[in-house]
Amino acid sequence: RATTNGLIARYRDRLPIGDEDPVISLGEGGTPLVRADHLSDRLACEVWIKVEGANPTGSFKDRGMTVAISRAVADGANAVVCASTGNTSASAAAYAARAGLRALVLLPAGRIATGKLAQAVVHGAEIVQVDGNFDDCLEVTRKLSEAYPVALVNSVNPDRLEGQKTAAFEIVDALGDAPDLHVLPVGNAGNISAYWMGYREYAADERATRTPAMWGFQAAGAAPLVAGHPILEPDTVATAIRIGNPASGELARRAVTESGGRFGAVTDEEILAAQSLLASREGIFVEPASASGVAGLLAAYAAGELRPGRRIVVTCTGNGLKDIDTAMRGREVAPDILPAEAAAVAEVLGLAS
Ligand code: F0G
Repeated sequence: RATTNGLIARYRDRLPIGDEDPVISLGEGGTPLVRADHLSDRLACEVWIKVEGANPTGSFKDRGMTVAISRAVADGANAVVCASTGNTSASAAAYAARAGLRALVLLPAGRIATGKLAQAVVHGAEIVQVDGNFDDCLEVTRKLSEAYPVALVNSVNPDRLEGQKTAAFEIVDALGDAPDLHVLPVGNAGNISAYWMGYREYAADERATRTPAMWGFQAAGAAPLVAGHPILEPDTVATAIRIGNPASGELARRAVTESGGRFGAVTDEEILAAQSLLASREGIFVEPASASGVAGLLAAYAAGELRPGRRIVVTCTGNGLKDIDTAMRGREVAPDILPAEAAAVAEVLGLAS
């Protein structure tokens, strides 16, 4: 079971994992921090993308899951349970499989991207589809973990945030200091809270001279932190962040206030346009929810709210391959089937002229 390059191996002294504790790892973390040249030019800023889709199960959830599942094993758990819009369940399923634990996952029926559902199925999770949204699933999950011997691995479990804060460490370690601005999507609001913990911890230990302003973007149809109240029927094409009552809302509010940041909302059209731009101009294919940080940044620039010359890190939370159906909607693959002849292909591609 030994894995030498995961984030617990690298940041163990900053995580709630003792020297003798078991480590369940798939080598998560250490994801690419890529300079976004097109966005940097366009926004007159220095923009970096933290590519969290490069984690073992394709999303940032693995950072929290390696810690939460390792702790569950240390505590003698036999089963873990989570509610999910898809990525948490994919990650929980993989890490539980590795640890030999049962993974029980509650999903809002019909609202999970196919790739994520496939992950839970193939890793052998026990899947329950619930007639309700993510918020309903999370409420049931909390009750199950209170009444039965099953360990809750949603981000209301503090071990999850501990693991996820390591992304902030990696960014400071790579750039030499914290950026001016950190931008990311917000759903259940765990990740923005985790980044803020990480940045503060590094600043307190003088590994960074400052902390960034935290900008969190929600989908316009599911933006309770912008509205200031829960949304009963959240809706967005970005199913990962289709959440109306974020469990870590209070922590996230504190992160935004303390850091001098802001919440914002982006429309589905803006999200899909940002997803396209990231893929076609930066070479980074992300799932829709993951593009909402870039969508928010573009909207802020258009509104004249972005000072030039700032150093900005945007977290792209999940891999584009998770949700192929949305990515392909309205796109046409080359309609004509050609003979297998170079001349015919060259002509269609305009190479011959
Ligand atoms: N981006 C992606 C791809 C996500 O899957 C999620 C959350 C978020 C952003 C938002 O992060 O909840 O920490 O604010 N997905 C959870 C899940 C809810 O069940 O996979 P957050």
